[in-house]
Amino acid sequence: MTTWVSAWQREQGGERARVLFARHFDAEPTGVWSAPGRVNLIGEHTDYNGGLALPFALPHRTYVAVTPVDSDRIRLVSAQEQGVREVDLSTVGPGTVEGWPSYVAGVAWALRQAGHDVRGFDIAVDSCVPYGSGLSSSAALECAVAVALDGLFGLGLADTDTGRTALTGICVRAENEIAGANTGGMDQAVSLRGQAGHALELDCRDDSVRQVPFDLTAHGLALLVIDTKAEHSHAGGEYAQRRAECERAAEFLGVDTLREVTPDGLGEALASLARLSGPEGDGSAAAEVLVRRVRHVVTEIGRVQEFVALLDQDRVHEVGAAMDASHASLRDDYQVSCRELDLAVDTARGAGALGARMTGGGFGGSAIALVEAGFVESVADAVAEAFTVAGLGAPAFLVATAEGPAA
Ligand code: GLA
Repeated sequence: MTTWVSAWQREQGGERARVLFARHFDAEPTGVWSAPGRVNLIGEHTDYNGGLALPFALPHRTYVAVTPVDSDRIRLVSAQEQGVREVDLSTVGPGTVEGWPSYVAGVAWALRQAGHDVRGFDIAVDSCVPYGSGLSSSAALECAVAVALDGLFGLGLADTDTGRTALTGICVRAENEIAGANTGGMDQAVSLRGQAGHALELDCRDDSVRQVPFDLTAHGLALLVIDTKAEHSHAGGEYAQRRAECERAAEFLGVDTLREVTPDGLGEALASLARLSGPEGDGSAAAEVLVRRVRHVVTEIGRVQEFVALLDQDRVHEVGAAMDASHASLRDDYQVSCRELDLAVDTARGAGALGARMTGGGFGGSAIALVEAGFVESVADAVAEAFTVAGLGAPAFLVATAEGPAA
């Protein structure tokens, strides 16, 4: 049987968080806020290279019910965890908070670091963003907390795009410095700045965005998300290692970020990396790794441009080839795919998808497939069947539409 993960209605999600809050803290919350998870259509591992990405916000959201208190005490409860946790905001710093409360306390800490007058609070969290699925459940939590604290402490940042860009930076700091995951800013940017019916063309060189109309239903298409359930974690070393490799390559090439390597200059850049002397050695395995990483990043940025150009020309039926090429590049050059993601992608294509690729950081998590609307069920069934035959655990599915930002 194929498992579908539906999104809660906003009222329903808000009510769940409110009831959870009342049960644990014996009072009504001051307010309820929420923020979405995301899928990325294309532009993977480009954000921390100053590149382009094209994510959109999911209907699946994380809900927080919050009341401020007149001290530095944060009390936290989650529908997904047992018991009440407590954190003293004045003691928060890198390495001081364990587990999911680090995303919450981290946002409060980063707001204070930026000079905002934020105090403690009681918070209840509930979410329908599948956890650990590569759909940014952690960014959804950070961004929900960010807009909640913005509202409660009257910061006014969530009212403008400039303010939301600042909140994005706050959430990234929380994740990098307090939760200890060295991720880029794509997930937080789309959770705070995405718009319903649009994909977000994000330029990570200057954090500028463009809202690109993205309505698959109008074109008789759908985006099927396949949560492979293969374990994935960014706090783990592989993501940080990829990022470090890109920084090393940029340093050797004498550029600030790999964004500065143009498609025309790519051949020359790769040749000079391959010739590296010193510890990277002439033609050594380490130099070969840097060649692959740079080739992925530069070609992937080009594929975002290609994808966006097709959307702008109302040719969404033709984006499949760019999705397929993105997956191949992530699998072969960036080496962040895995058996489950490859199987999901190959099976979806074999069952009629117009294009398919892994989405998010990789090493597990989710894949996306662009399908004709009438084929959603049959493609999902084919993937579920292939997982059974391969002896893998059952994947879960959802149909993604572009919805609104944190509010
Ligand atoms: C994760 C990170 C993002 C981005 C993607 C890969 O989702 O949180 O910042 O780097 O991986 O594109």
